Amino acid sequence: MSISLKPLVNYLFGPGKGLVAADDKPDSTNKRLEEFNIPETLEKRTRYREIVVTTTNIEKYISGIIFHEETLSNTLSDGRSFHEVLRSRGIITGIKVDQGLTLLSRSSIEQKTNGLETLADRLLDYKKFGAQFCKWRSVFTIGKDMPTDECINENIKIFAKYTQIALQNNYLPILEPEVLTLGDHPIEVCKKTTQQILLSLFALLDKENVDMSQVILKTNMVLPGTDAKIKASPSEVAEKTIGCLTGSVPHNTGGIVFLSGGQSTLEANLHLNAICQVKSLPWPISFSFDRAFMYPVLKAWQGRKENIVRAQNELLEVTKDSSQALQGVFKP
Ligand code: 13P
Repeated sequence: MSISLKPLVNYLFGPGKGLVAADDKPDSTNKRLEEFNIPETLEKRTRYREIVVTTTNIEKYISGIIFHEETLSNTLSDGRSFHEVLRSRGIITGIKVDQGLTLLSRSSIEQKTNGLETLADRLLDYKKFGAQFCKWRSVFTIGKDMPTDECINENIKIFAKYTQIALQNNYLPILEPEVLTLGDHPIEVCKKTTQQILLSLFALLDKENVDMSQVILKTNMVLPGTDAKIKASPSEVAEKTIGCLTGSVPHNTGGIVFLSGGQSTLEANLHLNAICQVKSLPWPISFSFDRAFMYPVLKAWQGRKENIVRAQNELLEVTKDSSQALQGVFKP
């Protein structure tokens, strides 16, 4: 029997609260550790996530944390599991359930997301570790004739199946179709591409009678490509992002969270702040940052025990900034 996920949606979008995405695949986490000369080991990956889980007072700004399967069953040195510690502080555990990407075809550089075949069984298993919501990511590259219709259609079909399996198993699904910022395209191209993908996605979900109020969209902000000649101000990012989303995301959707997409922590918060200064948006808005939170923490930590408190203070600071951005009152 399916349950209403609306209370969970309301909880995750509690005032001034958002999500930490601590769910990188092991090899992606390793790449980030390497950037700070931290050994690329399971031990260090786990320690990073432990820093997040044990940061005092983080529950003031965070309602949920998304983990990778690798972390879900972890315990603290006192034997308590991550999810028990989080639950006792009112933080809900989520799980990344996609299993990486494969090329659409041998001649293509575009990718589709894997993991549907085993999803139902894994969801059942993840319940043991307190997971209540889940996340599925696909990526879209902007380039010559990209993203192709094939890439969009293939990935949205997978999203629709994922959503149904998640809902059947009483998980709140987050759908993350990420348009990458790599490239020299102007902001308008990002807007048009993001909108095209979201329109196709929600049209399919609607056709399949998905209850949008039980679904969360995790999306990129609308930005110019990283190599674009013309940059955009926070107010332009906000205007284009909101224009894109109001034109493509059903107004009864549970909520929208933003990924940071390789922006610096400051940029991500400035853009979020500008978006949240716009009043009367149809859906609740929040953040679900990974790198924007992870980089300042790794920088402070450097993989050393004696820096853990410093790293946790940093995490508290950046999540507080994002919380203030949600209220449109962030001041760098
Ligand atoms: P970033 O915030 O680093 O873009 O990551 C978000 C995410 O969850 C990627 O799956």
